[in-house]
Amino acid sequence: MNASGDRAIGMFDSGFGGLTVARAVIDLMPDEKLIYIGDTARYPYGPKPAKDVRGYAIELATSLVHDFDVKVIVVACNTAASVALEELQRSLAVPVIGVVAPGAKALLGQTRNRRVGVIGTTGTIDSGAYDAAIKSAASETGESIDLVTMACPGFVEFVERDETSGPAVTELAQRLLTPMREAEVDALLLGCTHYPYLRDVIGQVMGSGVRLVDGAVATAIAVRQMLSDRKLLRVASRDEAATRDFYSSGDAAHFAALGRRFLGPELTTAKVWPI
Ligand code: DGL
Repeated sequence: MNASGDRAIGMFDSGFGGLTVARAVIDLMPDEKLIYIGDTARYPYGPKPAKDVRGYAIELATSLVHDFDVKVIVVACNTAASVALEELQRSLAVPVIGVVAPGAKALLGQTRNRRVGVIGTTGTIDSGAYDAAIKSAASETGESIDLVTMACPGFVEFVERDETSGPAVTELAQRLLTPMREAEVDALLLGCTHYPYLRDVIGQVMGSGVRLVDGAVATAIAVRQMLSDRKLLRVASRDEAATRDFYSSGDAAHFAALGRRFLGPELTTAKVWPI
C-alpha cells in the first residue's frame, strides 16, 4: 500500500458551495478519502476584505495539513482561491490546487464566438484573478478573447438558506444578469462554487444560447492529474473503504442535513470544526 497516497484529499469553502467540487472529486476518484470543511460560521466570504479571507484560508488549510494530515488541498472556493492561492502554495508543505485556473480553461473550451463571461462574488471579481487566468489560458492558444466579468452579490446567501428557485432569487438573477445577457457572451463561467445550485435560474435568464460552465469537473480532473504525476493516487483497499468526513465551523447538524441534499448520500454526518 502506498502510505502517502492513502492520506485524504483536503477541501474547504465558506460553506456549502465547495460541495459541488466535492461531488466531482468523489465521482472522478471514488477511492479517494476526503476531508471537507465548510466555514459556515464566517460565510459569506465574498463581501469581506481580501485580507480577512486570506486569513481564514490560511487557518483552514493549515488545519487540514496539521490536524488531518491531508496529501493535497483543494481550495473549493473561488473567493479564497482568488486572494490566497499563491500564499498557500508558497507556505504549505503539500500541493494546493484552486478552482480558478481549471475553471478559466474549461470556459475557453466552451466558447465559439470568443466572447465569454464570468460571474462570481465581489471578492473574486474585484481581485482580477479571472482576468489574469483567462488572459494566461488564452495566450496559450494565441487567440484573442473578450471577457466580461460581473459580481453577483446575494446569490450565495440564497443558496446557503436553501432557496435555489422561486420569485425572489429569479428577480435578483434578472436584475444582476441582464447586462451579462446583453453583452452577448456565448459561454458563462459560474465562478463561485455556490452558483451551480442556481444553474436553472441563471440558465433561464441567460437563455439557451449561452453555455453555463462549472469549474468543478475541471478542478477534479486537475487534482487527479496532479496526484497521478506525484504518485499520490490512493490504491483502493478491500479492508478500508474511502472515508469522507465533513466539518462545519457553524451548526454541524444543519450542515449535515442541507449538505446531504446538495452533495448526496456520501454526506451522512458533520462534525464541528472549531474556530
Ligand atoms: N463558494 C465561494 C466562492 O466560490 C464563497 C462564496 C461566499 O462565501 O461568498 O466564491
